[in-house]
Amino acid sequence: MSVLTSNILNLSNLNTLAEKLSRQLKAGDVCFLHGELGAGKTTFVQKLLESYGLKGKVKSPTYGLLESYELEKFTLHHMDLYRLKDPEELIYLGLDDLFKAPSVFLVEWPEKACGSFPTPPTYQLYFYHVLENPDVRRYAGF
Ligand SMILES: Nc1ncnc2c1ncn2[C@@H]1O[C@H](COP(=O)(O)OP(=O)(O)OP(=O)(O)O)[C@@H](O)[C@H]1O
Ligand SMILES: [Mg+2]
Repeated sequence: MSVLTSNILNLSNLNTLAEKLSRQLKAGDVCFLHGELGAGKTTFVQKLLESYGLKGKVKSPTYGLLESYELEKFTLHHMDLYRLKDPEELIYLGLDDLFKAPSVFLVEWPEKACGSFPTPPTYQLYFYHVLENPDVRRYAGF
């Protein structure tokens, strides 16, 4: 796990953060994305996928729990577990099989998985609202 830093993020320096992580991710990595509703977790994943050249193809997995993207070196699995009612649902989703192939997991609302992912994960990013300015966010992470 990595050292905590703290930063103000607008949509353009979010790109810089996403590019930085995109250069580091490797098969087997798990990245937990923490933050309240609307804190910017999905937006960060969109920027990350843009860094890999997948512009505009990203949809939020809120209803399906999982969206997967084939990248050059691994499959990137974006999960949003907000609506997960029971961690057992992850078994039916085939999580174990996904782990067997070269994969990277980016997980929103990871606490809902109740230990179905290895802890500590490789990366943890925390996104926060900034009360006095709705146009920016703050983050702590890698
Ligand atoms: N760094 C940022 N600066 C300014 N606005 C942002 C930033 N990140 C996200 N936003 C805006 O906040 C809104 C919500 O973002 P997003 O859907 O990524 O949140 P989320 O954390 O995934 O929420 P949820 O828990 O509901 O899935 C979007 O309209 C997005 O454009
Ligand atoms: Mg989201």
